[in-house]
Amino acid sequence: MSNSLTPAQMAATHAAAFTRSRPWSALEFAALLDSPLVLFAGDARCFALIRVIAEEAELLTIATDPAYQRQGLARACMADWESLARARGAAEVFLEVAADNTPAQALYHACGFAECGRRTGYYRRKDANPADAILMRKALR
Ligand SMILES: CC(C)(COP(=O)(O)OP(=O)(O)OC[C@H]1O[C@@H](n2cnc3c(N)ncnc32)[C@H](O)[C@@H]1OP(=O)(O)O)[C@@H](O)C(=O)NCCC(=O)NCCS
Repeated sequence: MSNSLTPAQMAATHAAAFTRSRPWSALEFAALLDSPLVLFAGDARCFALIRVIAEEAELLTIATDPAYQRQGLARACMADWESLARARGAAEVFLEVAADNTPAQALYHACGFAECGRRTGYYRRKDANPADAILMRKALR
């Protein structure tokens, strides 16, 4: 894990990776990182933000710069943040992924997550119908 990843670098990687939804700004990343409940793993090529509240962790975002995708970076980053969450006392972790986001769903399945719910029409799309949000869960202990 790098300690030198800045909110501006996070915003740049996020904007490069998320082409179908609004990217988060450096100010938004800075505000999240101000919270003692929020942790990050990774570097400027691939990073993840998580929030741990008591025994429950939530994956807030994960992004790999398109120039570095399919090299195993996200898989390694998932393992890194899961270790951080466990060290904070998390027993389980939840995330949300769009039903039309095949790469992310494949990543989460490969990392041991299973679907536990759905929110219909949760993600707005510029030129398409809204996409459902799939809720996924993994036990950390
Ligand atoms: C999802 C994302 C983070 C994956 O990053 P990555 O560094 O390329 O992923 P990895 O190389 O570690 O891939 C690990 C596994 O995930 C799956 N996977 C990743 N990208 C995939 C793709 N485009 N198609 C199918 N499966 C994919 C595969 O199972 C892969 O293992 P394999 O390469 O051995 O087949 C990246 O595509 C991304 O940034 N997407 C845009 C942002 C996003 O959607 N974030 C998640 C929001 S919920």
